Amino acid sequence: MKGKIIVTGGCGYIGSHTVVSLIENGYEAVVFDNLSNSKEFILDRIKEITGKKPRLEKVDLADEQQAKAAYKKHRDAMAIINFAAYKAVGESVKEPLLYYKNNLSSLLNTLQGQVDNGIENIIFSSSATVYGEPDVLPISENNETKRPFSPYGNTKKMAEEILEDFSYANSNFSAISLRYFNPIGAHQSGLIGEFPSGTPNNLLPYVTQCAAGVLKELQVFGNDYPSKDGTPIRDYIHVVDLAVAHVKAVERLVTNKNKSNFEVFNLGTGNGYTVLDIINTFESVANLKLNYKIVGRREGDVTALYAATNLAKDELDWQSKFDLEDMISSAWKWEQNLRSGTKFSN
Ligand code: WQD
Repeated sequence: MKGKIIVTGGCGYIGSHTVVSLIENGYEAVVFDNLSNSKEFILDRIKEITGKKPRLEKVDLADEQQAKAAYKKHRDAMAIINFAAYKAVGESVKEPLLYYKNNLSSLLNTLQGQVDNGIENIIFSSSATVYGEPDVLPISENNETKRPFSPYGNTKKMAEEILEDFSYANSNFSAISLRYFNPIGAHQSGLIGEFPSGTPNNLLPYVTQCAAGVLKELQVFGNDYPSKDGTPIRDYIHVVDLAVAHVKAVERLVTNKNKSNFEVFNLGTGNGYTVLDIINTFESVANLKLNYKIVGRREGDVTALYAATNLAKDELDWQSKFDLEDMISSAWKWEQNLRSGTKFSN
């Protein structure tokens, strides 16, 4: 074993795919998760994929005492990958206090756990939402960050600022913040994938649930944007590509290749696709017509977001490998498995 990595939120969508990639790269992954927005059976699925079932510490990291005990128990970890956070944009607008308390307390208790136990490396799950409405495209890490529209996005921006101050004050600690663009898709086995609780906020799970007959009709939020077909542009990236990038970031820190003790990397493909591109690609991949209607714009949506990818390529030796068809066909395979009557135990 290369060593132990703590993955907070490791039963979640990106977390579970990252655990698979860590195990495949010879690490021992220990999952910290309170299962508030994920299912424990995902660990059995990880075992089906990798042959190893990660240990689970059922812990609410927003609770100081629980976090303290969990990090002490696993003080031999080489690094922490921090996914644990609430992530529904719309819900955060209605419940800002819930988001600030949960997302920031979990991070602060994690940083305290690092200090108490000498766990020197952290990888933080951030988002391109910290760029707000970009002035320049493609978006590079030098683009200024702006006040994100949603409290969810603002917890990501505030967390990065906390990490920067923490790293500045503690030179023996190192942090990398990974700014995801639009994660979609699922592991090619169809055993793990995006598992939104309730009605999905994000585009692709909404599309696949419509196609599966779980939802009636997809609403396309506006076609009056300045794009080729009037619908907004996003940089959709395969969740397995994202998972590999996290392993690369861990390796950068544990082998001391980082150039400063707070670094930021965009994780995108560099390609922008419109909402109608996604719909058309899905219809051709799944060979079915999707029931959708153009409605008004959704508040807070920006016209276009896509990444400059050179920094991650040069410094992490990482670039995305999967194309849009791979992303969409893997998401559809996962949705079909979900609906194939497989009973998901808790
Ligand atoms: C994509 C496009 C919508 C749903 C958010 C977060 C980001 C990241 C990913 C959180 C937009 C359109 C969507 C629908 C639609 N992290 N759309 N009908 O808003 O780019 O990014 O999720 O998980 O931090 O901000 O992703 O999938 O919601 O929207 O027309 O029912 O699809 O208008 O243009 P977004 P999204």
